[in-house]
Amino acid sequence: MKKITALTSVFAFLALTVLGSASLSFAGGPKDGELKFPASYETFPRFLSGIQKPKHVRDLFINDTGSHSKKGETFANGSILVMEIYNAKKGADGNPVKRPDGRNAKDNLAKVYIMEKGAGWGKNAPDGLAIGDWIFSAFSAEGTPIKANYAKCRQCHLPLKDKDFVHRYDEYFNKRGH
Ligand code: HEC
Repeated sequence: MKKITALTSVFAFLALTVLGSASLSFAGGPKDGELKFPASYETFPRFLSGIQKPKHVRDLFINDTGSHSKKGETFANGSILVMEIYNAKKGADGNPVKRPDGRNAKDNLAKVYIMEKGAGWGKNAPDGLAIGDWIFSAFSAEGTPIKANYAKCRQCHLPLKDKDFVHRYDEYFNKRGH
């Protein structure tokens, strides 16, 4: 009898898990801030590395689905773009420490920003701020969702319609060479 109860609860758990994930798609997909942290993103193909900012260094990744996109096309549904934001290392004088090649040295990973695309997700965007079917989320270095002003993310990416709203679109495809 005990065995049956254990099995029943396993089935109940499975049913709930399936229902739980299905409800997300019934509701029409995630909104900004609701994306799942892509836990294994470090194994994704590199998008671009070592982007220099006055106080940061940024490394960009793209998942496998996204990496099959072709120059001149939009990214496929299921594409995930990940941007790691590292603090630049500061010297005793508070200024960034430069490497021998003149670039900022990396300190700790401060945040991880992501964009993910799914069919019809654009309708979850606030009025006038849809950027195709992309949704945004911001995380701590450990992958915990953090507060972000998503309207601001959207406003800054919105003008890049010709580049599927991706700032480094040209640089990525030019570097990849196809
Ligand atoms: C002030 C403008 C601005 C805002 C606000 C902004 N971004 Fe971006 N974003 C950029 C630029 C510029 C890049 C290209 C990398 C670089 O130069 O730092 C970028 C790159 C990215 C990328 C990598 C793909 C690409 O476009 O090249 C992701 C992912 C991303 N941003 C997510 C976010 C998220 C999430 C937010 C809000 C929490 C946000 N961005 C807010 C300007 C902005």
